[in-house]
Amino acid sequence: MGPTMATLNSNYLKLKAGYLFPEIARRVKAFNEANPEASARMIRCGIGDVTEPLPLAVREAMHAAINEMGTREGFHGYGPEQGYEFLRTAIATNDYRNRGLDVADDEIFVSDGSKCDGGAILDILGDDNTIAVMDPVYPVYVDTNVMAGHTGDANEDGSYEGILYLECNEENGFVPALPEEKADIVYLCFPNNPTGAVASRVQLEAWVAYARKHGSILLYDAAYEAYISDPSVPRSIYEIPGARECAIEFRSFSKNGGFTGTRCAFTVVPKTVTALSADGVRRPIHPLWHRRFTTKFNGVSYVTQQGAAALYTDQGKAEVASLVEHYMGNAKILREAAASCGLKVYGGENAPYIWVKGPPAVQGGPEGLTSWQIFDRVLQEANIVVTPGSGFGRAGEGYFRISAFNSREKAIEAATRIKAMRW
Ligand code: MLT
Repeated sequence: MGPTMATLNSNYLKLKAGYLFPEIARRVKAFNEANPEASARMIRCGIGDVTEPLPLAVREAMHAAINEMGTREGFHGYGPEQGYEFLRTAIATNDYRNRGLDVADDEIFVSDGSKCDGGAILDILGDDNTIAVMDPVYPVYVDTNVMAGHTGDANEDGSYEGILYLECNEENGFVPALPEEKADIVYLCFPNNPTGAVASRVQLEAWVAYARKHGSILLYDAAYEAYISDPSVPRSIYEIPGARECAIEFRSFSKNGGFTGTRCAFTVVPKTVTALSADGVRRPIHPLWHRRFTTKFNGVSYVTQQGAAALYTDQGKAEVASLVEHYMGNAKILREAAASCGLKVYGGENAPYIWVKGPPAVQGGPEGLTSWQIFDRVLQEANIVVTPGSGFGRAGEGYFRISAFNSREKAIEAATRIKAMRW
């Protein structure tokens, strides 16, 4: 007999526990309630959320835009769903064309976040694609595929049947080897969240060649691009010849312009990226993404887009540079603190995340501490919130992530407490 009432999307029932960051927040809240004196000293190095004030260039532009909205002539109702021309041009010019990369204004789609776009992109891709993700992985890539019904059930270790996990470890420098098998959709994130690893030009060339050989699409998350200081490291996948045929790039103003609360990001969908339709015809995906935007989205507010555009002014660029310098200064302090305890540290040099391996005696495995146990110890002994590595996947077990997004004062205090811990 068929259902006798409304049904729900049972794929959601396959999801393990809560989304990682709400789960951390829940545990921290419980700890704080039980330990009110410790809660006052709590330092949050968990979620990668910015702490420093919004750049002046942004605030001035937003104030001006608000004032404009208060006039009949300057009022803006619905804007273009894909973003105002002034912002799309500023992005394509500054982030791409001025750097010799061929990206047209109308290949830029302005949105309210890379997380949102990362989930939404599945709307325009087929349900029968093989999906590959890096492990450890930003959980959004996996969970959105689970929600869309692209996976089987979760295994004991939290991985899902039907997803190809590309293991990132110390041996491969947290940049995965190309798989033997064909993956249709490959999520890559560089600078990486959570490991802070970056991929070299040669490594990205290999991925583009792989994608072109197999007709795969690379979903390239470059949300932390601003943190790359090594000039030899590509900042965009489009620096690799051939990427315009196979890659979609996600970028955000969250981590460079401090927009985590203000909300603005963009996705680059080249008109040259194609995929097969059910009738076996190779078609561009750009019109589908455009169609999706016009149907399911009404655009980012005019005021916010004016704020984002201000990040491309001389003043805005200088302010972004000083924000990045600030957070990377924290990264250095935190990285050195963990290293001075004899811990193995990765990342934190071209990325705002430090990826720390638990001490050998407590490294994962039956007799060692798990990432969540390390999380609890750091919470209890140092009153610092970190992110457990296993929350990012099986290969993250035994590791934890320290976020450098903090005030300098708190980063210094966190470093002192990390050094004082009995590792
Ligand atoms: C993180 O901590 O991993 C970030 O908050 C991810 C995000 O930007 O959504």
